Order: sequence, then C-alpha cells, then structure tokens
Amino acid sequence: MREWSVGIVGGSGYVGGELLRLLLGHPGVSDIQVTSRRHAGRRIGTVHPNLRGRTGLKFRRAEDLQPCDLIFIALPHGESAEATRQLAQLAPLLIDLGGDFRLDDPGTWRHYHGVDHPLPDELCEFVYGLPELHRERIRRASRISSAGCNATATILALHPLYSRGLVDISRTVVEVKAGTSQGGNAPTAGSHHPDRSGALRCYRPVGHRHVAEIKQELGLRPSDPLHFSATAVDMVRGVQAVCHVFLRDPSLTERDIWAIYRQDYGPEPFVRLVNEKRGPHRLPDPRPLAGTNFCDIGFVRDPDSSRLVVIAALDNLGKGAAGQAVQAFNIVSGHSETRALEFTGLYPV
Ligand SMILES: NC(=O)c1ccc[n+]([C@@H]2O[C@H](COP(=O)([O-])OP(=O)(O)OC[C@H]3O[C@@H](n4cnc5c(N)ncnc54)[C@H](OP(=O)(O)O)[C@@H]3O)[C@@H](O)[C@H]2O)c1
Repeated sequence: MREWSVGIVGGSGYVGGELLRLLLGHPGVSDIQVTSRRHAGRRIGTVHPNLRGRTGLKFRRAEDLQPCDLIFIALPHGESAEATRQLAQLAPLLIDLGGDFRLDDPGTWRHYHGVDHPLPDELCEFVYGLPELHRERIRRASRISSAGCNATATILALHPLYSRGLVDISRTVVEVKAGTSQGGNAPTAGSHHPDRSGALRCYRPVGHRHVAEIKQELGLRPSDPLHFSATAVDMVRGVQAVCHVFLRDPSLTERDIWAIYRQDYGPEPFVRLVNEKRGPHRLPDPRPLAGTNFCDIGFVRDPDSSRLVVIAALDNLGKGAAGQAVQAFNIVSGHSETRALEFTGLYPV
C-alpha cells in the first residue's frame, strides 16, 4: 500500500502533539513535516516531552512547508479559513481539526456567528469528519472538517434516537463536562493553576459553539431547541456528555433501546456500548479512555418517567480530535480504520 507524506500545521499545540504521537506509529506514513511559529528549528521532543527520543523531527516555519499528500490543520479556531487557501496549493487532501468548516451552509454559519463566513463557497467542499455518520463521503473527500470533541460525544449519544424520531426534541438537556486540555496550550487568566485547580466551572451554560454542528448532524434546524451546557472539570483529558432525553413513546423498554444502539454501532470499531449491571464501571467515564480513540456510550431508563439518560465519554484529544482525524485518514487512504489507533488506554491511571 502507498506511503503518504503528511504535514501538520499548528504542530506545537495539544492536538498537533497527539497527531504526531499517532502518525509517528502509522506504517502508512513515510514522511512528516510539522510547523510551529514559536519553535521552528527545535526538536519536537522539546515541546512534546512524551515524544522525546522517538524521532529526530524538528519543527519548521509554515513558509517552509513542502508539497505533500495530506495536511492536518491544527490551528486555533478562526485561523483555518485563511490558512486553507495557501495549504490547498501544497496538498490535495486537507483535514481541518478546527471549527471553521464544520457547518455545511453559509446561512447557518451567519445565524450562529452573526457574520458571513470568510469563504462561504468552501463550506460545502468539506465533509463533516465523523466516520460513524459519514464514512462513505469521507472515503471520497478531499476536504474533511473533523468533528468537535463535545459535539462528537453528544452526536454519537443522540443520533440513534434522533434519526428515528424517538425523542421529544423540545425537552432534551445535554450537560457536558470537559477536561482542561480542551482549551489548548495558550495560558489564560482562567487556566492559571490557583484559579483552575479544583474548579468546577460552568463556562458555557448557554450558547456553546458546538451546538450548531450538533443540530446540523441531528437533523435539527437552527431554530429547534437543544438545551446544552458545558462545565470545565478538574481533569486534563476527557469529555463526558450526560444527555437527558424524553421518549415520545414511553413504552419503549431498555431492551428496545439496546437493540437500536446495537444496530447502529454494533460494527463500529470505536463506539463501545457500556452498561454493566454492577460495579463502579457501569457507565461511561472518560478517565480510562485517555489516549484512545474510543467513544463509550451507555444509558439508563428512568422507571418513573419517559426520561432516558444517555451518557457518552471520550478523550477530547483522541476521538474528539486527533484520533478521529487519523481514523478519517485511514478511511481515505484505504488502511484498516483502526491503524495506529489500537491503544486501549491505561487502567488504573
Ligand atoms: N484541544 C482539544 O481538545 C480540541 C478538540 C477538538 C478540536 N480542537 C481544535 O483543534 C485546533 C487546535 O487545538 P489545540 O488544543 O491543539 O490548540 P493549541 O494547543 O492552542 O495549539 C494551536 C497551535 O497553533 C499555533 N498557533 C496559534 N495561533 C496561531 C496563528 N494565529 N497562526 C498560526 N498558528 C497559530 C500555535 O503554535 P505556534 O505558536 O508554535 O505556531 C499553537 O501551538 C483548534 O481549532 C481547536 O478548536 C481542539
């Protein structure tokens, strides 16, 4: 099978580091270039200490990037759109991990952002990079916009129910808890250790950016309700989405719901259905998923109402970012979808 030359733009960030870790172990990748403005000329192990001694690769300036087969764009939100124009001259396949191209429709973008998208005609060129929903489109894509981390957990948790019209959509409440690495490596007042350590900070009670892509993928209109809040918790990696949905047909049993989830996710290599009868690991918890590409999903039926609580967990840098992007690369390149993503996580951690 052909070997690919790959670029990573924004490679000194947390997502860039995770991409490097995965791609350095990928047998289908022969050559990697990685850019950084601050660290050009330095070995990557000086910035990503887990990769020390793994490779002699050094960061280079974006201006020095040479043509290659594929570029992963791991720039901060809002920076990809402009960069895409230049990067498209260097590589026929782009996988963007930011949020700039996740919405299909320029009108929807304007609805959520209050301004026009800088490249509105490009939005439809990008395939939303969530393999469980768009595998065949990803296989043929030349532009992929990898799904957001909170969005991936929420969409995978709810899609089996929404796609079948089983939910009273006016009542769904999603509470996401997210680890600190979600905010990237740039220090802010809120990330200063004495302020951040031990904090339980509801940073986006309403108006989270990911709501737009979640609604798009669940087949909702921008005006449809989805009650979504996000809280930053005291862990480094991890997202847990606790989704309260109300079934339109209260006679649906837990067994019926299992059958639905198994039908959608049974063959999926990275979605695991979790529902142990006893013990501390009955429901999905992101902690043992650190470094993996798994999204664990479980649910509990409330016996006293039509409520179903669906819980999804993942690593925001894994299935929520770099792992998912490598999964998309595997699909496009014809490698086994699990290539370089076999890590099972650590327990205990
Ligand atoms: N963190 C997550 O959990 C997560 C999950 C899913 C998706 N994402 C998305 O993935 C992207 C990268 O996230 P991240 O967490 O890796 O961010 P990050 O840690 O802040 O890294 C981004 C890197 O981009 C470079 N950069 C910053 N501003 C730039 C600019 N104006 N122009 C060019 N380069 C710039 C910086 O490197 P230099 O200064 O060294 O050049 C920085 O190390 C973001 O769009 C984010 O929304 C993140």
